[in-house]
Amino acid sequence: MDGEMNQSPLLSLEHVKLRFGEQTVLDGIHLQVQPQERLVIMGQSGGGKSTLLRLIIGILTPSEGRVRFRDQEVNRLGRRQLNVIRAKTGMVYQYSALISSLSVRDNLALPMEELTRMGAKEIERVIDEKLELVQMGHVKDQMPSELSGGMKKRIGLARALVLEPELILFDEPSAGLDPVTSSVIDELIISLTEHTRATSVIVTHEMNSAFRIGTRMVMLYEGKFIADGPPQDFRQSQNPVVAQFVEGRTNGPIGESGKWEVGMRK
Ligand SMILES: Nc1ncnc2c1ncn2[C@@H]1O[C@H](COP(=O)(O)OP(=O)(O)OP(=O)(O)O)[C@@H](O)[C@H]1O
Ligand SMILES: [Mg+2]
Repeated sequence: MDGEMNQSPLLSLEHVKLRFGEQTVLDGIHLQVQPQERLVIMGQSGGGKSTLLRLIIGILTPSEGRVRFRDQEVNRLGRRQLNVIRAKTGMVYQYSALISSLSVRDNLALPMEELTRMGAKEIERVIDEKLELVQMGHVKDQMPSELSGGMKKRIGLARALVLEPELILFDEPSAGLDPVTSSVIDELIISLTEHTRATSVIVTHEMNSAFRIGTRMVMLYEGKFIADGPPQDFRQSQNPVVAQFVEGRTNGPIGESGKWEVGMRK
């Protein structure tokens, strides 16, 4: 561990707490992400994983604690500085979040038009290149409503890559896809991040994807990280919560608190 710590982290969260009204979603998160790691965040539905990603890109502000991108504290930045960090961070949203009134091409053009001074020709070149990477060149002029779920995920991925980000955040990249398409997306994430030497944080509760993609894993449970380490540690975890989650069992500590049932009744 000591040897790795000599490198300065790309991202660090220090004692981060986040409350929505009375509800404490994150309750003291510590995390350092080193360059070129592929960190998988696992945890229950409603546990705060998407919230954590929103904190990282500065859409949300922690109630307590700090989020740093390199040596900059994300929540102390003004609009312009925050945009500099956003330009270095690509986000693949849980529900692809393409803008429905814009074509695939215009969805990809948007971050470049908003956050850079790139000219029209250059923008077009990058759009073609990124669509090619995800093998979606043929849908450039289509509207999001004309695409399948898996195609939208790929376009979301391409859009996250247009600014050549140092950090890519993936929120459930393969959820809802068939196992083959899901594997294709996983392979794409690995090859793209290796190719561009990007660092990635991947939220998923698909165990196969998690083990395929991750170079390191953390598990979020009741607002805290209860496990952090290499994937093989998760396969043989003695922690009953981690073991239950990895094996997908219904019996075990998860669910016993009754929170799940309360959540379901809403
Ligand atoms: N803007 C908000 N205002 C109030 N509560 C919120 C807000 N965003 C999220 N929450 C609450 O925070 C909790 C965590 O939500 P979050 O979306 O981060 O969960 P998640 O781990 O991503 O779940 P899933 O796996 O289902 O996507 C939930 O209880 C949710 O209702
Ligand atoms: Mg989520």
